Amino acid sequence: MIQNRLRGFDADPMIVRQTFAQFPSGVAALAADIDGAKHALVASSFMVGVSLEPCLVAVAVQKTSVTWEQISKAGRLGVSIFGKGQSGLTRQLAHKDRAARFEQVAIEVSDDGAVFIDGAALWLDCSISAVSEAGDHWMVLLEAHRLGAGENEPLVWHGSRFRELASPPAVDAA
Ligand SMILES: Cc1cc2nc3c(=O)[nH]c(=O)nc-3n(C[C@H](O)[C@H](O)[C@H](O)COP(=O)(O)O)c2cc1C
Repeated sequence: MIQNRLRGFDADPMIVRQTFAQFPSGVAALAADIDGAKHALVASSFMVGVSLEPCLVAVAVQKTSVTWEQISKAGRLGVSIFGKGQSGLTRQLAHKDRAARFEQVAIEVSDDGAVFIDGAALWLDCSISAVSEAGDHWMVLLEAHRLGAGENEPLVWHGSRFRELASPPAVDAA
């Protein structure tokens, strides 16, 4: 019975974390160049398809994020959806040592200061549309002004680890 599997969690954050971790997602880097300094925030809570017209996407950002304080002042944010083979890069861009995040990382910076990561699966050039409170996070709506897909397949975040998409089974030609 499904209901035998449902349990209260007495606001235990570990149970909530472990349960949420079972939901597969992509992983995004939100990045901007502000006065020559590069900032990146890695987020698995990124979500596309909030609205088509205008083109809105969303991300939940921890209220404790120091990087959010910086990039929320940027006019444009580059969003890069990490691709196959980029799990190490994802961890580097989320590293505690903020100064080391962009070491040896191949990027492109737009005239508006949006920072895009090379080799990603997908890129969006966004501005911040709205920010609202959502418990211990900010719920951030981003408006995408330009979109582009790369050659790489997206990386998948599931069960607190990185996974890659499996190839579809071969189709029998007969
Ligand atoms: C795979 C992965 C997913 C993450 N997802 C989120 C997220 O959805 N929202 C968020 O605020 N932080 C997320 N983080 C943590 C941030 O990337 C970052 O480490 C944190 O904000 C602390 O750095 P800061 O103080 O420079 O912002 C994630 C980290 C990793 C490695």
